[in-house]
Amino acid sequence: MNGVTLGKIIRNLREPRKLLISAGLRFVALPMSRDAAVLKPVGWVYGTLKRVELKEIFPGIEEGSVKLVRTYDRDEHTSVTLTEIAAVSSIIKHTKVKNIFEIGTYQGNTTLQLAANSPGDARITTLDLPSKWNEDKRAITTPENFKNVTDRMTIGVQYKETSYAGKINQIFADSANMNWSELPGPFDFIFIDGCHYYEYVKKDTENALGALRPGGIVVWHDYGMIKDVSRAVDETSKKIQIYAISGTRLAVGFLKK
Ligand SMILES: C[S@@+](CC[C@H](N)C(=O)[O-])C[C@H]1O[C@@H](n2cnc3c(N)ncnc32)[C@H](O)[C@@H]1O
Repeated sequence: MNGVTLGKIIRNLREPRKLLISAGLRFVALPMSRDAAVLKPVGWVYGTLKRVELKEIFPGIEEGSVKLVRTYDRDEHTSVTLTEIAAVSSIIKHTKVKNIFEIGTYQGNTTLQLAANSPGDARITTLDLPSKWNEDKRAITTPENFKNVTDRMTIGVQYKETSYAGKINQIFADSANMNWSELPGPFDFIFIDGCHYYEYVKKDTENALGALRPGGIVVWHDYGMIKDVSRAVDETSKKIQIYAISGTRLAVGFLKK
């Protein structure tokens, strides 16, 4: 053993993470990371769909550019990540979809990107629970840890004062308890990111497939990370073509033309 190698080992002894990584034990070392964000993808373990690169699903998408508005105004625990919002924005830009529906507005950061990357005459309808939400009105009995009701005062705050607000139509209802036929469908694109309980995702998916135009696109968030979402999407993949986008928690489905 030469002096350099011995020196390296001694240095690594003071840095247990580096020692584990150099010993090929990366997965033991990762939980010791100083940055919790790097651990997240390690926990994306659910779902059976093959993970595919976006450019395999949408050839030519790699040549496009997107606009990200309020790029870093996102909540690490609730919002989609930058990689994911770049993917969603790229799909919107590439496919030029005009009639868009989103379940789960929250602060409206995703809504903003849908508006910023769609054609000028596109319409974005975005849904969240009513401002005076009362759990007694919930359509599907949901375990406490799945209720996922965000601060009612923050719904849509990010897009309200922007030049994109005119393209956005905010509606308030429980996705499983509203009259979908009153929505301005059929939609070209639907983004599902509301309640993540299996029964809700299943119901949102059924309703979304009924509200899409033939050839329309549906995108689910949290595929691979949340077991219930992954189960509902995997079941739907027996009916329509769905791909999981690598490096993200997005699954993209296509209604037959
Ligand atoms: C995960 S957040 C959406 C985050 C958003 N896509 C973003 O990137 O900022 C989910 C939102 O769905 C709403 N929500 C939960 N259950 C719902 C339901 N049954 N119907 C409509 N919206 C619902 C919540 O209030 C919350 O604001």
